[in-house]
Amino acid sequence: MMMSFYFVDPSITQLNFKIRKYEQIRAPGASKLRIVALSELFSVLSLYSRMSAITTEPRYKYSPAADFRSDTVTIPEDGMFEAMKRAHLGDDVYNASETTLDLEQYVAKMCGKEAGLFVSSGTQGNQICLRTHLQQPPYTILCDARGHIINYESAGIAINSQAMSTPVKPSNGLHLSLEDVEKNLIMLDDIHHADTKIISLENTLNGVIFPFQEMAKISQRARELDIRIHLDGARLWEASAASGISLEEYGSLFDSMSLCLSKGIGAPVGTVIVGTSQFIKKAKFFRKIMGGAMRQIGILTGAARYALDTHFPDVLKKVHARAATTAKYATSRGYELYVPADTNMVWLDLDKTGIKTADWIAKGTELGLTLGGGRCVFHHQITDAGQQKLHDLIDLFAAAKGT
Ligand SMILES: Cc1ncc(COP(=O)(O)O)c(C=O)c1O
Repeated sequence: MMMSFYFVDPSITQLNFKIRKYEQIRAPGASKLRIVALSELFSVLSLYSRMSAITTEPRYKYSPAADFRSDTVTIPEDGMFEAMKRAHLGDDVYNASETTLDLEQYVAKMCGKEAGLFVSSGTQGNQICLRTHLQQPPYTILCDARGHIINYESAGIAINSQAMSTPVKPSNGLHLSLEDVEKNLIMLDDIHHADTKIISLENTLNGVIFPFQEMAKISQRARELDIRIHLDGARLWEASAASGISLEEYGSLFDSMSLCLSKGIGAPVGTVIVGTSQFIKKAKFFRKIMGGAMRQIGILTGAARYALDTHFPDVLKKVHARAATTAKYATSRGYELYVPADTNMVWLDLDKTGIKTADWIAKGTELGLTLGGGRCVFHHQITDAGQQKLHDLIDLFAAAKGT
C-alpha cells in the first residue's frame, strides 16, 4: 500500500529549506516513521511562518525623520546597503580588509596625517588616543570642563590611562582660549603634582565651532612645552563643512584626532583616529586591549565610506542651513539659545523660556517628534515634515506664553 511522507530535505539550512513529499510503500514500522515526519513538518512550518514575518515585515519600524535627539540616529539606506555588499570581506585583524585599509588611509590623507585606524566608537577613539600618548603616570589631561572625554566616557581616562584631569571652564562661555589654558597648565616638576601631558580640545563642542586661530595659538604653546595635543573631532566634519577650513589645516594643529563617522556623516558605526604611523602602530595595541580589533569589518567601513562620499561636505551644509532656519524661527518667537547654532545643533534654553523639559518632550511626542530636551540635533534624515512638527511645537509653547 502507498503511503505519503513529508520530510525536511536533509540539506536544509535555517534560511533555505525544502519540504519534500515522499511516497513509500507501507512496510513494517512505517506508521511510526510517519509520525516523526509530520512532527518535523509542523516545526518547519512554524519556523517558516516566523521567518517570513522577519523577511517581509520589519519587526521594528523606525524612522529618524522627526528624531532630534542626536545625529547618531540616522539609518542605512539602500545605497549604503549596496556599498556594504560590495565591501572587501577580509579579516581586519590580519590586515586583510581592503575596504578598511582604504578608508583609514583616505581619512588620514584628508587630515594630512600618515596613518589612520578604524575603531568602534568615538569614545574608543578618544580613549585609545589619550592612552597611546601617555607613558608613565602621574600625569594630567587638560580639557574643557564640558568636554566629552571627562563627562561622558565613564571615567575612561582614569581607568584606561590612570590620568588626572584639569577641567577648565571657558571664560568666554563658548570655547577655551590660550589664556584659559595657560592659567591651568601644571608644569611644576614637583612630587606633589601631576604635570599636564596632554591638552585635549573638542570641535565642535555643543555644535559650536572652535575658532581656528585660537586653536592654533594653543597648539603652538603645547608644542613649545612638549605637551601632546589631541582633538576630539567627533564632529570636526561639521566644523570643516561650515567654516571651509580643511581637515588638513585642522590636522596640522594636532598630534592625534578622533573623527566619528556615525554622527552627522551618517554611518551606522565607527570612528577613525589619525596620527603618525608610529602613533597608529602603538594605538593598535590599545585597540586590541580594549577589545576593539574586529574581523570582517568591510561591511562597516564600506558603509562609512559611502556615507562620507555621499554627505561630506555638501549635505552637511544643507543640514546646517536647516538648523539655522529653526534657530531663527525659535528666536523670532521669543526663545533663547544656550549657544549659537553654528552647525547642526539648536540648543533651546527651555528654562529661560519658562518651559518644563518633561512637558516639552511629552507634547513633542504627541506631535510625532522624538526629543531629548531643548537640544535639537539636525541630521540629513530630518525631513521637511519633521522640521515642521518641531516648529509646531515651538509655536505651541510660544502661544501658551503669549509670545
Ligand atoms: C564630542 C563627542 N565625542 C565623543 C563622542 C563619543 O562617541 P560614541 O558615542 O560613538 O562613543 C560623542 C558622542 O556623542 C561626542 O559627542
